[in-house]
Amino acid sequence: MAKAQPRYVCQNCGASQSKWSGRCESCGAWNAITEEASREAAPGGLGSGGGRGGKAIRFERLADESAQEAPRHVTGIAEFDRVTGGGLVPASALLIGGDPGIGKSTLLLQASAALARAKRGRVAYVSGEESIDQVRLRARRMGLGEAEVDLAAATSVRDIMASLEKGEPPAAVIIDSIQTMYVDTLDSAPGTVAQVRSSAAELIRLAKQRGFALLLVGHVTKEGMIAGPRVLEHMVDTVLYFEGERGHHYRILRAVKNRFGPANEIGVFEMTDRGLTEVANPSRLFLAERHGQVSGTAVFAGLEGTRPLLVEIQALVGPPGPATPRRAAVGWDGNRLAMVLAVLEARCGVVFAGRDVYLNVAGGLKIAEPAADLAVAAALVSALADAVVPEDMVVFGEIGLGGEVRRVSQPELRLREAAKLGFAKALLPAQGKGAKGTPKTIGIEPREIAHLHELVAMLAADGQKRKKGT
Ligand code: TYD
Ligand code: MG
Repeated sequence: MAKAQPRYVCQNCGASQSKWSGRCESCGAWNAITEEASREAAPGGLGSGGGRGGKAIRFERLADESAQEAPRHVTGIAEFDRVTGGGLVPASALLIGGDPGIGKSTLLLQASAALARAKRGRVAYVSGEESIDQVRLRARRMGLGEAEVDLAAATSVRDIMASLEKGEPPAAVIIDSIQTMYVDTLDSAPGTVAQVRSSAAELIRLAKQRGFALLLVGHVTKEGMIAGPRVLEHMVDTVLYFEGERGHHYRILRAVKNRFGPANEIGVFEMTDRGLTEVANPSRLFLAERHGQVSGTAVFAGLEGTRPLLVEIQALVGPPGPATPRRAAVGWDGNRLAMVLAVLEARCGVVFAGRDVYLNVAGGLKIAEPAADLAVAAALVSALADAVVPEDMVVFGEIGLGGEVRRVSQPELRLREAAKLGFAKALLPAQGKGAKGTPKTIGIEPREIAHLHELVAMLAADGQKRKKGT
């Protein structure tokens, strides 16, 4: 056996180097390199005939009727089941990441209780962060005191494996959190990349072998990554992020990777004093605080995964003056904002230069869809011209650099959601002939535009009217 060689592993990205340095060569993070002992393979590597020959693996046909999908474990928490793609898949591993305190433990405790209630088999909840009594108290406060969940406080992966290897395999095992777990064959401390990776690998192997659904909790670092290991994201089948803004009560569970369902699917919850409750109609929640006919706002008919979602986009444009005007966007990409401003200026002559511009997605939701471009432009022009986008109008469409307004996916779904919430008009890209489900049949009066000019003209007309009126 070769002598143990020290390796230097970046705790941020997982890259390993042969020397210590202050800055990771791979991801550029400072002070993230730590030493980890490892047993290197024999010199020469596997392929050079240094060791014994490998055993031939057996290939099988892709087409095989015998492959059957095991039934999923449906928790009955609809928002959770939606995000997982229809329930937990046996013999799979799911990672749920999020900031400390966002509600991961709360969510998983509720999901465990729901699974136990659904009688899908034994549910084991292993906490490495809280004592059994703490978990019990929390469960009692949430009205789950009677749930038939097996609780344990443990951090040794060896012990956890030993308890799960024998007897009837559980349906689901929750590990809260993976950063507290350790394998005793490694010297490094819990939470380091090596520990997190090895602990996860061991547990995932057992989950596949014994056929239970493994749910790993992972904390997210300040930089927004699941602490240390990007590597973890590759090892698991499903990655969910639990997000939310401080000061807001609602939380969003988002699938960023899912081998068993659509990615980008979201579930919306509200944090109450009795745990998380589902929000079945999030559009209503996001529009709840709207105040009628004011300038600088537009309602975007968006799409998150397969679900339509209406959100209010707000813009504020300062008076001309500052030498270095500020541009700030909350909930929307700053570069995309700069692009929309540039297009408005270059293609429509609407000038924002020399003014502060602030953009906000109300409620703290983060939008990544380019389909929101038109709503952003509408809010911006509305703020600048002190004109109003009709209160009962939704807006969607992508903007090209030429100022053209482009079609986006699933217009029908967006319009149906708008109609459901009482909107009567839509500003949208020209749909062309043969578009499925025309807005009229949905009960929405369409205003189709092909170029940003038309938006600017529409708002300018309203601005004039308002000036005369006052
Ligand atoms: P927790 O699930 O412990 O977060 P995480 O596991 O992601 O670190 O949630 C902790 C927060 O949630 C804490 O600030 C208190 C709040 N909370 C409630 O508001 N209501 C509740 O019923 C519970 C259990 C927690
Ligand atoms: Mg926790």
